[in-house]
Amino acid sequence: MKGKIGIIGAGKMGEAIIAGLVRSGVRPGEILAYDADSSRLSKVRKDYSIRALNHNLELIRGSQVVILAVKPQVMEKVLAEIGPAVKAKKPLVISIAAGIKTETIKARLGRDLRLARVMPNTPALIGAGISAYFAAGMSKSDKAKVEKILSAIGQVVEIEKEELMDAVTGLSGSGPAYIFMVIEALADGGVKMGLSRKMALQLAAQTVVGAGRMALETGMHPGELKDMVTSPGGTTIAGLSALEQGGLRGLLIKAVESATIRGRELAGGPSAKPGPRRKR
Ligand SMILES: NC(=O)c1ccc[n+]([C@@H]2O[C@H](COP(=O)([O-])OP(=O)(O)OC[C@H]3O[C@@H](n4cnc5c(N)ncnc54)[C@H](OP(=O)(O)O)[C@@H]3O)[C@@H](O)[C@H]2O)c1
Repeated sequence: MKGKIGIIGAGKMGEAIIAGLVRSGVRPGEILAYDADSSRLSKVRKDYSIRALNHNLELIRGSQVVILAVKPQVMEKVLAEIGPAVKAKKPLVISIAAGIKTETIKARLGRDLRLARVMPNTPALIGAGISAYFAAGMSKSDKAKVEKILSAIGQVVEIEKEELMDAVTGLSGSGPAYIFMVIEALADGGVKMGLSRKMALQLAAQTVVGAGRMALETGMHPGELKDMVTSPGGTTIAGLSALEQGGLRGLLIKAVESATIRGRELAGGPSAKPGPRRKR
C-alpha cells in the first residue's frame, strides 16, 4: 500500500493494528506511531521497528492515513490538538474509538474529511478479529484502503447506516466476552463430569472455534448444522433440551440488546427501549 500510516495511541488496539500491518507485509518504516505513554511507544518501536514520533502533529504531517486509537474519553483533546494540521494535510482518517460519532469527528477535523468509523473486537490482538466500518465521504478507492488496513487484524464488513454501529458493538464488540463465558461454563460442565480443568478448557475452546469456522466455511444455516449432529433420542438432543429449558436463545438475544442500548446511552443517543404508545 502506498503512503505512510500513522497511529495515534499505541495501546492494546493500536499495537494489534501495528502487529497486523507488519505481519501483512507493510514495511515497518511506513508505519508511524505516537503515544502519550513513552514506555508504550518505545515498546512498539522496539518490537516492530516502526517509527516512533515525538508528537501527534509530527505524525499528521508525515502520514497519508491516520488511525485514531486512543480511548474515547481523550478523543476530544486529541481532535482539538490535531484539527488544524488535519485540515491542512487532509489525510484519510480511521477512528476506532467506541461511541464517537463521525459527526463529532468531522466537526473538529473538517466537514470534507475522508473518515471511517470502525468497531473492531479483541480477537484483533491475534489477527482473528472482525471489524465493521461506516464510511463517511469516501470514494471506492479510499474504502478499499480502509478494508486493506483492517484486514490486517481480521475480517471486515461495511455497514451502511451509522446508527447500526451500536448493534455491532452489542454483538461482535462485546461478543468475545459472551463467548469466553460460554467457554468457561462448558469447561465447568466438563470438570463437573470428571474431566481435568486443562482438558475441559481445550475441548470447550476448540469446540467453539470449530463450530464457528464450520458456520462460516460451509455457509450452511446454523440450525441445519445443529440438526446434523442431533440424532433421535441421542445425547445432543438431551443437552439441547436443557439449554432450551434454561432459555439460552432468549438470554443471548437479550445480551446483544442490552449491550446495544448501553452503547447508545454512552454515546449520548436515544435509548433503544420503545417509547410509550401514542393513543389514536
Ligand atoms: N480494547 C477493545 O476491546 C476495543 C474494542 C473496540 C474498540 N476499541 C477502541 O480502541 C481504542 C483504544 O483502546 P485500547 O484498549 O487500545 O486503549 P489503551 O490500551 O488504553 O490505548 C490507548 C493509548 O493511547 C494513549 N494516549 C492517551 N492520550 C493520548 C494522546 N493525547 N495522544 C496519543 N496517545 C494517547 C494512552 O496512553 P495513557 O495510557 O498514558 O493514557 C494509551 O497508551 C478505544 O477508543 C476503544 O474504544 C477497543
